[in-house]
Amino acid sequence: MEVKTDLLFPLEEFKKENGRAKPFLKWAGGKSQLLDDIQRRLPLDLQDTYTTRYVEPFIGGGAVFFYLVHSYDFKHILVMDINEDLVMAYKCIQERVEDLITHLLAMETEFKRLTNVVQHDYYYKIRDAFNQNKGGFDYIASGAHWVERTAQLLFLNKTCFNGLYRVNAKGGFNVPFGKYKNPTICPTENLRLVSKLLKKVEIRCGDFECCEPFVDASTFVYFDPPYRPLNKTANFNSYAASVFDDGSQLRLAALFRRLDAKDAKLMLSNSDPRNENPEDNFFDDAYNGFSIERVKANRMINCNATRRGEIKELIITNY
Ligand SMILES: C[S@@+](CC[C@H](N)C(=O)[O-])C[C@H]1O[C@@H](n2cnc3c(N)ncnc32)[C@H](O)[C@@H]1O
Repeated sequence: MEVKTDLLFPLEEFKKENGRAKPFLKWAGGKSQLLDDIQRRLPLDLQDTYTTRYVEPFIGGGAVFFYLVHSYDFKHILVMDINEDLVMAYKCIQERVEDLITHLLAMETEFKRLTNVVQHDYYYKIRDAFNQNKGGFDYIASGAHWVERTAQLLFLNKTCFNGLYRVNAKGGFNVPFGKYKNPTICPTENLRLVSKLLKKVEIRCGDFECCEPFVDASTFVYFDPPYRPLNKTANFNSYAASVFDDGSQLRLAALFRRLDAKDAKLMLSNSDPRNENPEDNFFDDAYNGFSIERVKANRMINCNATRRGEIKELIITNY
């Protein structure tokens, strides 16, 4: 594919700190490291007036979303995820950012006054409260109850081990305490910038297939589904209690074909099963007929340090 990066919004500009909303959560599978490769493969007509809609059905921490929405003037934007707590956090920042900041700053002050040992206990107290409140929690009606839970989620994300989100089979957040020296728990300025940016975004909780009616020929869709595990021990798609298995990957490939038939512009990233088995054609078969590129990635989600080296990821496009 011909790459004309000079026509795209400069990534270096975006990465500068000044005044740009950035991801507010660290999320497993976050795409910050793949952003250069993604940027070089964006459709070149993003800056003309025809591509007016942007859809991201697996928003996670939103690394690509923040870059694109900052850089291009989309008229309609839809982001989705199946994780109720994550979606609540986006909506809470959209609607109630000042209440959230007040709550989170109070937690930060209280936490930082404690000795290391007591910080450890404070972390587990918040983690227990977060898990106990999940049953029966009202994710539908926005209200003050969202502020407390979102503050807990952000607090846990900033203070847990490796800053990642992982749940067990029952949906309980189970990451241990991270023992950071002086974590910024409430990034006040960024939360305000994120809130401002989210004002023009539609945020929904649900399965990726629900985005289908929203997509038309003027839409660019970026799909970043949970990775297909490279091997049985590298299974890191526990973002939600439900599993994203090969059946889900094929259901997604079928949606990709339906949206291609609508003439939408589509991009999808995933792990490359050929890292482990050069004969594995799972995605080559599922996305047969589309452009499939293999790009280098330094992925950090494998707990086995020897396997953290250079691996390839797939970027699949229909243009
Ligand atoms: C690889 S992560 C996305 C990472 C994101 N691009 C980033 O930069 O942080 C995959 C996301 O898909 C979500 N997910 C899992 N199953 C889903 C489904 N069936 N429909 C929609 N989202 C789903 C997970 O909750 C997770 O946030």
